[in-house]
Amino acid sequence: MDNRPIGVFDSGIGGLTVLKEIVEQLPGEDIVYFGDTARIPYGTRSKETVIKYFFQSVRFLLTKEIKAIVVACNTASALAMEEAQKVFDIPFIGVVEPGSKAAVASTKNATIGVIGTEGTINSGAYQKKIRQMLPSAEIIGISCPLFVPIVEEGWENSDVAYIAAKKYLLELKEHNIDSLVLGCTHYPALRYTINKVLGDKVILINPAYETAKATKNMLKDRNLLSNKIDGGKCNYFVSDDPEKFKRIGGNILRKEIAFVQKINIEN
Ligand code: SIN
Repeated sequence: MDNRPIGVFDSGIGGLTVLKEIVEQLPGEDIVYFGDTARIPYGTRSKETVIKYFFQSVRFLLTKEIKAIVVACNTASALAMEEAQKVFDIPFIGVVEPGSKAAVASTKNATIGVIGTEGTINSGAYQKKIRQMLPSAEIIGISCPLFVPIVEEGWENSDVAYIAAKKYLLELKEHNIDSLVLGCTHYPALRYTINKVLGDKVILINPAYETAKATKNMLKDRNLLSNKIDGGKCNYFVSDDPEKFKRIGGNILRKEIAFVQKINIEN
């Protein structure tokens, strides 16, 4: 048993979708969330920069006496988590493996789409992981760089979102995919728009649920679960504008976030 908190990292607010799942599946766990809101997006940056930012974020989370780090950010999971695991002596759980597993379990025709940031798609991390689990899979990866700013703007159900989704995703229809991994923390917010473009036959995979499940299993295997059954507390830290985080984050969690602390991550 281990009552230290779980660290959850994201480049911004979107990782709260993963936090929400962790709270649902592990209600007794305390959580320390850090959103690197001053430096989002990670998805358009080089691998070196993502590693640098991510390592700084990990060092910050380690000051909070955490027992594991959940990397909710797909870009950091794809580009920096493996490097971090070599350097820091703490278990990391990313979103790529759980998301890939869910896609493989979902597909009937072994034709899977993956959408994400440029960093995530160009890294080939999802493609590689899915192919390891299902060697016959046809995987179509498409980066959708405008989706993050659209969601950050709160326009996920607007005409702008629909036009962008049509432009990015119609190609996936031609490939006859039956499952689509939403490989960026922001994309679950666009699911209605994506569904409008692709139709009901394409199953949308949100890696958040599987990631929370993988977190629970890992903590159980290592005897790191908290001995509390519920009442876990969440503490939130950001590197920019706590008020915006409270406002948008409250919508994602569907409950008020009372306090968010701003920190200087460059220190
Ligand atoms: C980003 O930081 O560009 C988006 C977050 C993600 O990749 O999940």
